[in-house]
Amino acid sequence: MRDTILAIVIVINVLCGVLVWFIPDLGNYILLTIASAFTLLAIYDAFIQKKHSLMRAFPIVARLRWFFEEEREKIQQYFIEDDLNGTPINREKRSIVYQRAKKEIETIPFGTQHNLYEKGYEFVKHSIFPTDHHNVGGEEVEFGSDKCTQKYKSSIINISAMSFGSLSKNAIMALNQGAKMGGFAHNTGEGGVSPYHLQGGDLIFQVGTGYFGAGKTIEGKRYFDDEIFRENAVRPEVKMIEIKLSQGAKPGHGGILPAKKNTEEISKIRSVEPFTRVDSPPSHSAFSNFKEMIVFLQKVRELSNGKPIGIKFCVGNNEEIEEMIKAFTEAGNYPDFIAVDGGEGGTGSAPLEFTNYVGTPLLDGLSFVYKTLVKYNLKNQIKIIASGKAVDAFDIIKLKAMGADAIGMARSFMLSLGCIQARECNLDTCPVGVATQDEDLVEALVVEDKNIRVKNYHTKTIAAVKEVVSAMGKNSIEEVKAKDIFRRNKAGDITSLDQIYFN
Ligand SMILES: Cc1cc2nc3c(=O)[nH]c(=O)nc-3n(C[C@H](O)[C@H](O)[C@H](O)COP(=O)(O)O)c2cc1C
Repeated sequence: MRDTILAIVIVINVLCGVLVWFIPDLGNYILLTIASAFTLLAIYDAFIQKKHSLMRAFPIVARLRWFFEEEREKIQQYFIEDDLNGTPINREKRSIVYQRAKKEIETIPFGTQHNLYEKGYEFVKHSIFPTDHHNVGGEEVEFGSDKCTQKYKSSIINISAMSFGSLSKNAIMALNQGAKMGGFAHNTGEGGVSPYHLQGGDLIFQVGTGYFGAGKTIEGKRYFDDEIFRENAVRPEVKMIEIKLSQGAKPGHGGILPAKKNTEEISKIRSVEPFTRVDSPPSHSAFSNFKEMIVFLQKVRELSNGKPIGIKFCVGNNEEIEEMIKAFTEAGNYPDFIAVDGGEGGTGSAPLEFTNYVGTPLLDGLSFVYKTLVKYNLKNQIKIIASGKAVDAFDIIKLKAMGADAIGMARSFMLSLGCIQARECNLDTCPVGVATQDEDLVEALVVEDKNIRVKNYHTKTIAAVKEVVSAMGKNSIEEVKAKDIFRRNKAGDITSLDQIYFN
């Protein structure tokens, strides 16, 4: 094949040469230049480069493979995927976010595309006597146990943790401004509180193992620092504090802030040395057992003047989680909320094994945490935030029914900003300026347009939740329980989530 390809390009090259000889006009010179470039490229592919066997065997032609590999995701999304098979968030779900964010028509013609008889199909049952959806309550939740002195009332839908650094400054500004307009909370992510977060929206200040904006480096290791933390924690915008133990997309895996990405601006926000590599280890240096953790949580609560304190994790070892909750009871001290992230959670970048095979899926983790809190009489003190692929109203109702008091949503809010699920968050090439620091791409995201979309998506989703709850004949979102959500099982029967997860 190699010789055939080489022969073809050389023959074309010779023909172009002959053409120029007899008709020496500009067009033919251009043709000859292109043909010569192809001949040189073919010789380079076949004989000079040694890295790609495919290119040596199929000069020039093999380059198409790299082109299609590069564009595979887009070809898949534009030409191949149907409404229900795109991953991680299918087109149907992505579309409802875009429609709600842009206040466009959000009805479906001609009936469902779902197979209602397939194993795993889930639904709720409606009542003969629906209530008035305008009067359905339960869209707010109050955080704060009896240990907390600054209780915080928030929406049941809030923006889950995503840092400035992972997202662009324009994305962070639009999210925060949207949160302000819609009256819901915005989690800073573990990168700390940046100026872009300070647009007037309520903040949940997240502290991870890198203690960004909450600690300092001593001999290359990161340590919590009372004063640095306090400065950020007492800001009026900060309504709650979240100590991150793990996240579903990469539980038990730390992170690295490469020296190149640690710019003057980022280093200032994160309280680290600029242009040095900073590690976020898998575990905290501030505590190494549950007793120390409880002491740390109380210290954090006091340093933030009594704001609600929470911990975020993806459920791993059930016995360990139970031991922790038992330790809360024994100490008579506990966090004000627990954020349970599902193994299906998103991230800017994670190792494949961790994303695919480490961490408990949300419904299993959430139901376990809920049951264990009830078992140790702590559910009345500790609120649960659940996160993991909640996009539409049914997802929210289901998580509420499974024991969540509030829902954290990350990727769906990214979609409301215009994310097209290009899946390039780890490459700094996000084409819509959401998950990149490339100035030109960031400028493409117009904050004044996208902030309203963030708000609209939230408002319309809450309205959709209320409509479904009213169809179920209930007066409050709080009234929906796991016994009200049904799933078709392997045998073809219908089982309630209560039977599956709580019996
Ligand atoms: C781009 C991106 C950045 C994230 N950064 C953080 C982070 O800094 N801290 C954290 O706890 N979780 C982080 N997450 C996880 C989300 O907060 C959330 O727990 C997870 O994606 C599940 O929610 P979702 O399915 O609605 O996206 C990030 C997720 C994404 C997509």
